[in-house]
Amino acid sequence: MSARPEQFETVHERVCVADLIFDIRRPISAEDLIDEREYEIDERLPYWADLWPSGRVLADHLAGMDLAGCRIVELGAGLALPSLVAAARGATVVATDWYEPALAFVAENAARAHLTVQTMLVDWREPPDALLERPFDLVIAADVLYEARNVSPLVGLVAGICAPTGQVLIADPRRNDAAAFLDAMDAAGWTREREDIQFNGRRDETGSTIHLHRLTPSRS
Ligand SMILES: C[S@@+](CC[C@H](N)C(=O)[O-])C[C@H]1O[C@@H](n2cnc3c(N)ncnc32)[C@H](O)[C@@H]1O
Repeated sequence: MSARPEQFETVHERVCVADLIFDIRRPISAEDLIDEREYEIDERLPYWADLWPSGRVLADHLAGMDLAGCRIVELGAGLALPSLVAAARGATVVATDWYEPALAFVAENAARAHLTVQTMLVDWREPPDALLERPFDLVIAADVLYEARNVSPLVGLVAGICAPTGQVLIADPRRNDAAAFLDAMDAAGWTREREDIQFNGRRDETGSTIHLHRLTPSRS
């Protein structure tokens, strides 16, 4: 992995999740990382460099679960706070993102917390075989349903990597494209339930309610 946190101007943020305390190193400003060339090529924006409200809500939820021995993959992990919490609760975790620097920060933040989190470079539209060959007990993601172009790849990917007895947990701040994703999962026979969680920290433009979706594959 060639990207290194040392290449960025960074801050350390103390993040508390239940009884866990993390010292998260992250870029000082995600906005400063915008690269117009990258945007022109594939509309890539460095959203990975922030800790988003949905990620915090998902992390908080995972902290209350018994995850010992559970195989978990996080999609669009960014700084991967949920993955860190899952590892602290005894899960075997793979954190994925399509930005290499995000994974470098995850590796460093996990090491600082004395946790093991495997990282993998994954673009949802072209997932590597190394990801597809492993079914996971739990597929997690926070704030990934914000672009129409990603709905169909995410539906296919989630179905491809979730074990038949597994579950998917997605925290979503009521993004416009979430409905299309959920409709497609319904059509594919998944069952789902939703919990509405109030987030009391920094809000983004969608407000303070985060939807936590729990989806299970059709058992037929
Ligand atoms: C809004 S951020 C959320 C980050 C993190 N989950 C959180 O809640 O703090 C969306 C994340 O999805 C990742 N992402 C966007 N498009 C992707 C794609 N095609 N393949 C893989 N990751 C992608 C971004 O790099 C970013 O880390």
